Amino acid sequence: MLNEGFPARFRLACIIVVALFGYILFFHRESLNQPLWGSELPNSATQRVREKCKPYSSSTENLQQKDGSVVMVTASAGTAGMQGIPDLKEMVYENRMTYANKWGYEHMWANITSYSLPNGEPVYWNKIPVLQEAFVRYPEAEWIWWLDLDIIIMNMSLSLGDHVLSPEGMARNAAVDETIKAPGGGPSGWRTPKTLDYDEVNFMIASGNWGMNVGNFLMRRSEWSDWLLDLWIEPLYINQNWIFPENDGWTHMYRHHPIVRNHTLCTHQRALNAYPEFNPNGAHWQPGDHSVHFAGCGTHKRCPGEWNKYWNLRENYTVPDFLKQKLKNGTAEIENIQRGVGLPEL
Ligand SMILES: *[C@@H]1O[C@H](CO)[C@@H](O)[C@H](O)[C@H]1NC(C)=O
Ligand SMILES: *[C@@H]1O[C@H](CO)[C@@H](O)[C@H](O)[C@H]1NC(C)=O
Ligand SMILES: *[C@@H]1O[C@H](CO)[C@@H](O)[C@H](O)[C@H]1NC(C)=O
Ligand SMILES: *[C@@H]1O[C@H](CO)[C@@H](O)[C@H](O)[C@H]1NC(C)=O
Ligand SMILES: *[C@@H]1O[C@H](CO)[C@@H](O)[C@H](O)[C@H]1NC(C)=O
Repeated sequence: MLNEGFPARFRLACIIVVALFGYILFFHRESLNQPLWGSELPNSATQRVREKCKPYSSSTENLQQKDGSVVMVTASAGTAGMQGIPDLKEMVYENRMTYANKWGYEHMWANITSYSLPNGEPVYWNKIPVLQEAFVRYPEAEWIWWLDLDIIIMNMSLSLGDHVLSPEGMARNAAVDETIKAPGGGPSGWRTPKTLDYDEVNFMIASGNWGMNVGNFLMRRSEWSDWLLDLWIEPLYINQNWIFPENDGWTHMYRHHPIVRNHTLCTHQRALNAYPEFNPNGAHWQPGDHSVHFAGCGTHKRCPGEWNKYWNLRENYTVPDFLKQKLKNGTAEIENIQRGVGLPEL
């Protein structure tokens, strides 16, 4: 036993000191949103990553304006791709980097297969360490915008600030007191909150006919977000073998935990997760909408044709020369960040 040999009085003193420290730490702060550790992240390993890794800037050349408060995150697997679209990654690179460059956002490209979780968990769960890493690598970023690979940004002129990150944007797009569909469709029996304090929103996701889809969502740097990521990658969830693993894990947390709902803004589907016309599971992209998500497209034979159709409908934009050059000379950062290469464990 650890306690053997310690005088009882000393043990008691230790307990009091620890309890007092805990009390001060947890109750003497102004709000949930204020990080316990100020702007510092909770453990020394994350601190080491910060020291070791220079913020990985891929979009700071030729900036029209510098914001840096958003980091876009795209993760892809070396081998996987959508069937029949050979240049998918290059198209996505061009599209997202042009957007990031236009609005002054950072962009992190991650090789999702190079993240290995301790117990060999399936690769979709790697989304969580990728997000954790993004918060560490981009200490200036207030928001992380996760985008699955199969998304085209259609409206380049609409910044995330105007679209959803400002209180006006949140108000315009929020689904308030509306029914939520169960994962995969059908009634869930639960609803989005009636009221929400926009300053307290740490997570933003579309709610649609299919339920909520973690292919496109935003997360704000906060203590809440650190907790959420930690709890999301839960062995009990992983062992469920859900059909939509990390998606259903998210939905589970949203459904059963008021503290998750209280800090989550559900948007209408088309704000963040409009589908192409051939997808029967939800609202379809309309001209002017921000982006289009080809969810589940990889296995659909109509996918390449539909992808190209929407690709041609995207807002006409000029790709900066340095991006064209990088694509041409093979230095585009697609799948650039590889966990394990120069990175200590988080
Ligand atoms: C991604 O990571 C895997 C596993 O480490 C590796 O085999 C693959 O070559 C990487 N892909 C790229 C494009 O670097
Ligand atoms: C959620 O918000 C409501 C309304 O502001 C509040 O009454 C409740 O205590 C909050 N619950 C949690 C778990 O934060
Ligand atoms: C982008 O969105 C804005 C705001 O909704 C709208 O005014 C504009 O017409 C859209 N542009 C395109 C090219 O869709
Ligand atoms: C797109 O913009 C470029 C440059 O402004 C112009 O030359 C081209 O005709 C435009 N294409 C379309 C389809 O509007
Ligand atoms: C590739 O192009 C980029 C952008 O112009 C440039 O910064 C980089 O030095 C080039 N690299 C090589 C190996 O040519």
